[in-house]
Amino acid sequence: MAHKILDLYPKLTYLSEDKLDFSNFTAVAIPVLPGEKIEISKTKFLTAISNFTKLNLNIELNNWPEFTAKPGEIIEVPISVGTLTRIYLVGIGDESDDDLRKASTVLGRKVKGTNCVLLSALSTVKEKVITQGVAFILSNYQFSLKGEQKEKKPTFVIYGDYQKEVENAEILASSVWQARNLIHTPSNIKNPEWLAKQATAMVSAAKNSDLSITVKSGRALKEFGGLLAVGNSSPNPGPRLIEVNYAPKGSNNWPHVVLVGKGITFDTGGVSLKRPYDTMIGMKSDMAGAAAVLCATVAMSKVKPKVKVTALLMAAENALSGTSQRPSDVIKHFGGTTVEVLNTDAEGRLVLADGLAYADLELEPDYLVDVATLTGAATLGLGRQHAAMYTRNNGVAKKLYEVGSKVGEKVWHMPLVDDYSVALASDVADFNHLADKFGFSAGSVTAALFLEKFVGDRNWVHLDIAGTGRSEVDAGENIKGGTGFGVRLLIEWLGSF
Ligand code: BES
Ligand code: MN
Ligand code: ZN
Repeated sequence: MAHKILDLYPKLTYLSEDKLDFSNFTAVAIPVLPGEKIEISKTKFLTAISNFTKLNLNIELNNWPEFTAKPGEIIEVPISVGTLTRIYLVGIGDESDDDLRKASTVLGRKVKGTNCVLLSALSTVKEKVITQGVAFILSNYQFSLKGEQKEKKPTFVIYGDYQKEVENAEILASSVWQARNLIHTPSNIKNPEWLAKQATAMVSAAKNSDLSITVKSGRALKEFGGLLAVGNSSPNPGPRLIEVNYAPKGSNNWPHVVLVGKGITFDTGGVSLKRPYDTMIGMKSDMAGAAAVLCATVAMSKVKPKVKVTALLMAAENALSGTSQRPSDVIKHFGGTTVEVLNTDAEGRLVLADGLAYADLELEPDYLVDVATLTGAATLGLGRQHAAMYTRNNGVAKKLYEVGSKVGEKVWHMPLVDDYSVALASDVADFNHLADKFGFSAGSVTAALFLEKFVGDRNWVHLDIAGTGRSEVDAGENIKGGTGFGVRLLIEWLGSF
């Protein structure tokens, strides 16, 4: 049976300033800035809405002395004039990206699951329109396989001549949305072959010859010892290496970015079974890195930057079965490096190692970036708001930090501590993958040091999104479950080439 996913993707559009008219809207949102005396700015918009409703909104505001215009604080004024039923007075804080994002998600959630047609005058600056639009859409995300589904969804209309901004917001938000759908899909539906089919469908839906896809399976993977060792635990249908390319005509001399995504469609831990067992429940999200690199790469066909992009989705299930690998096995990665497997739950680095080595040896990347829900340790250190970023290239680190802060996907530059490399020693192989010798206890750092063994001299960035890739709460832009972290960060970064 094919499963039907609830589609609550809202409509986003704009209204030119010279077409201002309230007759088709059910709600209007007006920004309020904090300060000594809280007051709605006297704009053309305020005058127009005051004339239309015969309301003095500043007098209305005085009825709420406790209102401080903190981002996301909202006063809901019920009215009944024409089709209009609500005016939202929305605190937008200092109008930073973070504050505006917060305000827009609270507002977006207010109208989630309704047929509201909302005219928003929240952004007073053009640069923030994209932030606002993306937040409106993402705050409406839902994933449901329930039999009965309510399909009401709002329309967001941003006031101003913002065609380009709305288009860009749409690219970002729809790409994150697609990634979330992949991540939220349960693992009895999603396996490596399913992921390959989804990727193929996305590439054909883009109808753009700049994009292409190839999928390796079976014999074609014989040199990918890590992917096979993990993925053969679930022989039916077995692991896949999904390669998506964005390579427009004439792109041969452009910089080449290779993105490698961890695509574990479910992580039981394997023979080293995850305990306590309920830590396994979130592990359908263990392909969030692969989802992010896929959706960002497909979006390149619309962003059209002058950069060649290759996404490698390392797709495998880490199952517990008679064909699972064993602790103490020695495997051979792409390129010949041998590794002693000590804990089959540290599977992500094994599939990534093959992807990174393949990229280094075969694809000549100028930048090599991997994205992975790699270690619980990353979450212990940084929580869920920042991804752990590892790189020796301070220039890229700075750039990604800036881009992440702008789009709301923050990264924090972590140290590759060379002193900990001895933790990777093995008596029988080139390295052990667990890297817990000597008790350095920096699990996210030592995992990164393991990956670095496979990147040659490349400009390499590792993003550990174990914390940010999944939300434990239904709040803000996220619902509980996959967030789609990395999609906006990558699109924005690649778009800057
Ligand atoms: N997929 C997990 C990491 C993870 C944990 C992601 C929690 C999201 C939330 C990864 O494969 C894993 O099991 N890592 C182990 C590594 C350890 C065995 C060295 C971990 O973090 O415990
Ligand atoms: Mn694991
Ligand atoms: Zn995992």
